[in-house]
Amino acid sequence: MALNLQALLAPIYGEDPQTLQEQATRYQRGLEAFARIYGAGPVLVFRSPGRVNLIGEHTDYNHGFVMPMALDKDVLIFARPREDQQVNIANIEDRFGKRHFTISEEIPPKPIGDWANYLQGPAQLLEREHGPGLKGFDGLVDGAPPYGVPRGAGLSSSSALTVAAAVTLVGINQLALQGAALAEACGRAEWYVGTRGGIMDQFSAVLAKHGHALFLDCRPREGNEYYFKHVPIPAGYAVIVVDSGVRHKNTGPLFNRRVAEGRIGVRLLQKKFPGITHLRDVNDIPWEELEPLLPEVIHTDELLRLGIDPETILDQGVSPGTDTFYVRKRCRHVITENQRVLQSVSALEAGDMETFGRLLQEAHASARDDYEISTPEIEVLVELANQAPGTVGARLTGAGWGGCIVAVVQQDAVEAFVQSVLPEYNRRVGLQAKAFPCQSSAGAGQAFSTTI
Ligand code: GLA
Repeated sequence: MALNLQALLAPIYGEDPQTLQEQATRYQRGLEAFARIYGAGPVLVFRSPGRVNLIGEHTDYNHGFVMPMALDKDVLIFARPREDQQVNIANIEDRFGKRHFTISEEIPPKPIGDWANYLQGPAQLLEREHGPGLKGFDGLVDGAPPYGVPRGAGLSSSSALTVAAAVTLVGINQLALQGAALAEACGRAEWYVGTRGGIMDQFSAVLAKHGHALFLDCRPREGNEYYFKHVPIPAGYAVIVVDSGVRHKNTGPLFNRRVAEGRIGVRLLQKKFPGITHLRDVNDIPWEELEPLLPEVIHTDELLRLGIDPETILDQGVSPGTDTFYVRKRCRHVITENQRVLQSVSALEAGDMETFGRLLQEAHASARDDYEISTPEIEVLVELANQAPGTVGARLTGAGWGGCIVAVVQQDAVEAFVQSVLPEYNRRVGLQAKAFPCQSSAGAGQAFSTTI
């Protein structure tokens, strides 16, 4: 029986006929490639989307608030279950080669940037926590452009692959793991590669809903439950992602340093507020009370005198890789950003786009000045975006140090936005930016199964 791919894909990508036709062609190409590599038989198709963060940057690992939105760009895994624990995985972009590993084998990560890490991490974690004896699979990854998540652009392509691998293993082993518990496990699975990221990307991938952003409180509640809600983007407005084309290689060490600075901030604040564990706990205390406890800059020797060892501040013995910590401004960013996220949710729910736009701009200034994660190219892009007619607000998005900006723009001004921002960016910076309106797709899971 012929597979009606468009009907199967509509719940994921929405009803737009052209989108559905393009996606159907893409899935069909994947099925054919899979058959060429592994032969005829059953195939299960899993997917997981990337995300753009609207607001709430570097707050998640401080137990704060975030508001990401899933992209309609995703990573697919075509899989055929195996009876043993072997995972064989090819990539539709041939240049990435094939990978093989055994789920039960605790092997260290491959060098940074190797895509197989994002399969090994979840496989080993799920085997530890939901095994032993999980079944492996023969698989084909499809994250190819233009439908895949752009890589290294701050749109969580790595989390999309991690979550896609996790839902594949959950699906073929019929594990009772879903929703927040699945997302939380994926967050830890990604630590395998060495970056101490938070949980935003994996939650966004798992819990996404078409047409909505996701407000998430990153503090676990009793029973490891999380509070989240889907926030609709008001009609008449578009979310545009613009990729600056700037790539900063291996931002892991810079990222870990920021995580360490927040944790050092907590340890210093504990002298006056002994009960706190994360920056989230001081959200309601006026900044004037906190500021004197947080030095602008502090060094390892001083910290050791205070009984704080920066070398043990990160989990699993990861070193922050510096002896100079900018504690005050980093904490100020996190604390004020949390407030901006809460205000943004209220503004979006009230349809108050003026306030939302102002908050986006303030978030950008804080990320640039206090968290210091912008770049000169991103500054040009944000400035141009904010000047474009119909822009509500724009800011850098994701971990920082290059990658993308996000702009919220009046729907009827999208074309004008693209026409004015892209050529001018090229003229001033010499790089080709790419813009794409973000139609959020459904969360990660099995798309369908078939026999080829
Ligand atoms: C990366 C991390 C996330 C989050 C963002 C910054 O994407 O993986 O957990 O910390 O950076 O907001």
